[in-house]
Amino acid sequence: MKVTVSRKAHFNAAHRLYRKDWSDAKNNAVFGKCNNPNFHGHNYELIVSVTGEIDKETGYVIDIKTLKKIIKTEVEDAFDHKNLNVEVLEFADLNPTTENIAVVIYNKIKPSLASHLDLEVTLFETPRNFVTYSGK
Ligand code: NI
Repeated sequence: MKVTVSRKAHFNAAHRLYRKDWSDAKNNAVFGKCNNPNFHGHNYELIVSVTGEIDKETGYVIDIKTLKKIIKTEVEDAFDHKNLNVEVLEFADLNPTTENIAVVIYNKIKPSLASHLDLEVTLFETPRNFVTYSGK
């Protein structure tokens, strides 16, 4: 029997979608307004879900306090009120699309979890646009 425990989190961040190796014209054609050289911001909403067996002693899949702390350290402290392109190392050479941000978040959280736990990350860039990554 496996149960999924989820926690929501939030961060504000700025980004610009572009590739250094493309011309301005191509960046504009592909990324449109998201290629604004002066950056733009989003209110990102994050759902982190951890799936596993319920521990017989504690009754927990994961102590939510532990999950909260991991999210704070790995995501909120690292991304909140940051310019992702300029200030976050992972995006120095990686376009900070919602897809890539979700993968980076997954890769930052996964090593902090016990290895028998499965992780899924859902990242909302807007209330209507979101992506999900579960390590596959
Ligand atoms: Ni954007």
